[in-house]
Amino acid sequence: MTAVTVRVPAKVNLQLAVGPAREDGYHDLVNVFHAVSLFDEVTVTAARPCAEWSLVRLTVDGQPGGDTTGVPRDATNLAARAAHRLAAETGAGTPVNIQLSKRIPVAGGMAGGSADAAGALVACNMLWGTGIDHDDLLALAAELGSDVAFPLVGGTAVGTGRGEILTPVSSPGRYHWVFALSSVGLSTADVFAEYDRLRPHAPEPSGDTALMSALASAEAHALGETLSNDLEPAALSLRPDLRATLEAGREAGALAAVVSGSGPTCAFLARDGAGAARVAAALRESRHCERAVTAHGDVPGATVVRGS
Ligand code: C5P
Repeated sequence: MTAVTVRVPAKVNLQLAVGPAREDGYHDLVNVFHAVSLFDEVTVTAARPCAEWSLVRLTVDGQPGGDTTGVPRDATNLAARAAHRLAAETGAGTPVNIQLSKRIPVAGGMAGGSADAAGALVACNMLWGTGIDHDDLLALAAELGSDVAFPLVGGTAVGTGRGEILTPVSSPGRYHWVFALSSVGLSTADVFAEYDRLRPHAPEPSGDTALMSALASAEAHALGETLSNDLEPAALSLRPDLRATLEAGREAGALAAVVSGSGPTCAFLARDGAGAARVAAALRESRHCERAVTAHGDVPGATVVRGS
């Protein structure tokens, strides 16, 4: 095998409950991840070693509508770190080119960098034939970042701990989403720091049984009533302009509007596909949104789409 392409989904959080800061600086979460049909593609190709790099060369391009501004092109990129980590763990590791083809917004609160790292793990694992199994990959992913394990699994799942301990949730419905993208990203660490400032005595996070019932009912209305994000006030404090974006989507008929993860992407739940198209069109026409895209969820996690 000399080339593997893996498709990896973005996520939106249906619930993000955030506890107080822990001693290690992280926060305990109840994080309900939901994979949506905005995909990056990660292609790993066997390469010749060269003087400037020993294991990983990284290239980045944008799919139509995808923006690559701000994506690190060097060994600091989480996808490159994932490949190095897998090589160190398994003793495998012939030189590879990792090509990231971006569609997921960068620094947008949709875990695009984490998705790329998950894709790199799956593709390198296959190309190198390391023989380690899915559970080992999940453990490596969890070490790399709080959101890296989820795109390996996809669907809908509850993340506890710092978000990396995953329990899949059955979600029989198909939901239609609109995402309002912003060209200026927000740093996840900055948003958590603002959360600590605004809410110094946060309670321990707990799950929402109404959200679980809504998911079981497969009713978009019911789901819309239960979406919640504890990081939203912090994201809005750093980016007050997002209030108007959320409001524009509500006025356009969205069932619910929330900041996605640490933002600045805003997520809107629509009644159906046609409703999502209407909300996206209204957002594009408003002054309060730079770009709007539609997607549905949930969708599967990292999937090998080509191998040769
Ligand atoms: O784990 P990851 O590298 O994605 O986290 C990025 C940053 O987000 C961390 O450095 C930390 O500041 C913050 N974070 C947190 N609690 C979590 C997850 C992330 O404080 N559970």
